[in-house]
This record gives sequence, C-alpha cells and structure tokens, in this order.
Amino acid sequence: MAFTIAIDGPAAAGKGTISKAVAAHFGFAHLDTGLLYRAVGAKTLAGVEAIAAAKALVAEDLEAEDLRTPEVAQAASKVAVIPEVRSALVDFQKAFARRAGGAVLDGRDIGTVICPDAEAKLFVTASAEVRAERRFKELQGKGGDQGYEEVLADVKERDKRDRERATAPLKPAADAVQIDTSEMSIEAAVQAAIAAIEARRG
Ligand code: CDP
Repeated sequence: MAFTIAIDGPAAAGKGTISKAVAAHFGFAHLDTGLLYRAVGAKTLAGVEAIAAAKALVAEDLEAEDLRTPEVAQAASKVAVIPEVRSALVDFQKAFARRAGGAVLDGRDIGTVICPDAEAKLFVTASAEVRAERRFKELQGKGGDQGYEEVLADVKERDKRDRERATAPLKPAADAVQIDTSEMSIEAAVQAAIAAIEARRG
C-alpha cells in the first residue's frame, strides 16, 4: 500500500533527522530531495550547465562526496530557482512517493507541488538562530571552518531565495501540521512528528 509523508521546511530545520526517524518508525523508504538539488548544484560548480545536469542526473550522483558543504548548499538553492531544473526532477520524486510500502520525502515543495495528495504533511521550522546553531555544530563536527555568523548568513540567504522564487517556493501546504522545534530536543521533535502522522493514519 502506498502512503506518502511529506516533510518540508527551511534550511537546517531538522527535516533530515526527523525524516529518517519517521521512516524507521513506520518502516518506510526515505528520500532527501535536497540531495537532488545539491547533486545538480555540485555539477554546476564543476562546470556543467544546470538544466543539462538535472536532466542527466542518475542515482549514483546522490552518493557523491561533499554534497553537504555550504558551497554546494548555496549552489543547490541557485539551481533550484530554475523551473526546468525542478521539472526534470519531478518524475523521480513522484515515483518514489508512490512506491509500495510507504515513503517519506523531505524538502521544500513536497506537500505543495510534488505530493499535494500526500496522506500526511509536516512543516518543520525553528528560528533562524537555532537552525544556524545546529548547522554550525554539525559542520564543526565534520571539520568545517565556517563561523556561526557565516552559517547564520548562509541559512538566511538560502531561506530568502527559497521563499521568494516564483516556482515552487518554500511555504507550508494549507493542510500541513506545523512543528516549531526551536525549543524542542530532537527526541521531542521526532515524537511530535510521529504523533501528527499517527493522527492522519487514523
Ligand atoms: O539540509 P538543508 O535544509 O540545509 O538543505 P537541503 O534540504 O539539502 O536543500 C538544499 C537546497 O535545495 C535548498 O536550499 C533549496 O533551495 C533546494 N531544495 C528545493 O528547492 N526543493 C526541495 N524539495 C529540496 C531542496
């Protein structure tokens, strides 16, 4: 049986951690759609034109090293503005969403554009400062050299670009359950997400 869980929200809101935990809890497959845009962004940094890169994307590209760097995140949000890049990635995401056995997709436009009929939709947020602090610590743990202020500026810049673009802007679906994780532990956020989805499962 197909059952789709859409999890959207701004940069570094904890969507990845929550999505993985939710997918494990329900035994569903998980797709981090940000990786698609990061993979295309990485190709543009290597000199490939964005639309051509999106059209030629293959599964192995999502396993490339260094997709989680701040440079690739910025490149991802730049290519994500281009309608032809987005449309080249739609079919793969829709097919993943309807796979038998259930799927969790996290991104920016899953509940609004990719899966408007998803059985459960969450919009995960936190203040920009809290998100930057979490991302700063994550990057530091990987030996990153960005300071907190730089990470905060990066998060705010991407949020602005993601919210203001004409095609598939970042915004909550009308029927999404919003979870503000600013003052929640990761365990509490995961429990809130699971409870909201259980309520939709009936
Ligand atoms: O992990 P983080 O929240 O920082 O970013 P991500 O989810 O990996 O997404 C990287 C960038 O890809 C975002 O800033 C968006 O511009 C873009 N993106 C998008 O436009 N639509 C999606 N469904 C997922 C990501």
